[in-house]
Amino acid sequence: MKISENYSLKPYNTFDIDVCCKYFVEADDVKGLLDFVAAYEWNPFEVLILGGGSDFLFTEDFDGTVFYPVMKDMVVTGEDEQRIKVRVGAGVVWDDFVAWAVGHGYGGVENLSLIPGHVGAAPVQNVGAYGMEAGNVIEFVEAVDLEKAQCVKITAAECRFAYRDSIFKQEWKNRFIITHVTFCLSKNPQFCLDYGNVKGELEKMECEISLETVRQAIIRIRQAKLPDVKELPNAGSFFKNPVVSRAFAGKLAGQYPGIPLYPVDGERCKLAAGWLIEQCGWKGKTLGRAGVYEKQALVLVNHGGASGLEISHLANEIKKSVFMKFGVMIEPEVYVL
Ligand code: EPU
Repeated sequence: MKISENYSLKPYNTFDIDVCCKYFVEADDVKGLLDFVAAYEWNPFEVLILGGGSDFLFTEDFDGTVFYPVMKDMVVTGEDEQRIKVRVGAGVVWDDFVAWAVGHGYGGVENLSLIPGHVGAAPVQNVGAYGMEAGNVIEFVEAVDLEKAQCVKITAAECRFAYRDSIFKQEWKNRFIITHVTFCLSKNPQFCLDYGNVKGELEKMECEISLETVRQAIIRIRQAKLPDVKELPNAGSFFKNPVVSRAFAGKLAGQYPGIPLYPVDGERCKLAAGWLIEQCGWKGKTLGRAGVYEKQALVLVNHGGASGLEISHLANEIKKSVFMKFGVMIEPEVYVL
């Protein structure tokens, strides 16, 4: 356990924003964390639980405690002919876990290759890409409950996974520090290739379909479209894709032929926020030192030295223009603090 005061969060957020927190608690073991929490007076408004820092936009110093779990153990806890269960520490880099799974021939997370962040954040956001979501392979989550100062096991059903959402972003926000996630992966992988251009990329690669080649295809697609945080600080998709009624989506389709629509269920449709933003003319634009990435309008970038307020100002301008043009409210996927 390492506790620091007035600590800079610059190295801990992928937007590269220079803000400080009052206390920074780096926890590498559950027992130490539990001891600390037992003496800690919990107030959900003064807590922030940080993973890889790719889900936050800081607009000011944080006058509270940042918990940074860095447990890095990874252990196989059970297996049969079909499946394998693996318990992974919250501090393991997500893509290292995906590489491990693919390297051992275990399916279920290969389409989630190269997503930035740590394993502990995966259940919070229910990270998803190219037709797969982490929630589908999570068996349970272990966490330290800040309110009751005890260790708890939370089942996947209790996590209430939904599109980029879970109970950890709702009722249980800032209450549980996830320390480990147990995944159930498949020894007989079912490939999921129907989303976007995954099949097309595999055809271009002219190779057999395997976990390894699917991972390579996803990496190639992501690298071609998404900026590397080390070169151009960003937080991946800044906005969520909005969900609207089918009737409203039909009206938009009449007005804007070619608008991408993804049916969610009988009643609702998801729209592509990136498309809406591009139609408003934002792609590649800058406002001060903040900008909209030139290859993917869903991603806001820091061109160097931007403040969190500059980026959030840009986000608000985008939000306004999308609403004015399409009558659709887009909401950030990242927390703006
Ligand atoms: N589009 C545009 N212009 C743009 C961006 C997108 O016209 O600037 C169009 C595309 O041509 C496509 C549609 O919008 O027809 C959807 O775009 P894309 O397939 O690139 O995916 P997305 O909806 O923009 C979502 C996730 C990504 C994830 C991809 C692939 C959200 C908010 N984003 O993006 O997640 O990688 O699907 O599954 O759901 C992330 O969360 O950081 C992230 C990158």
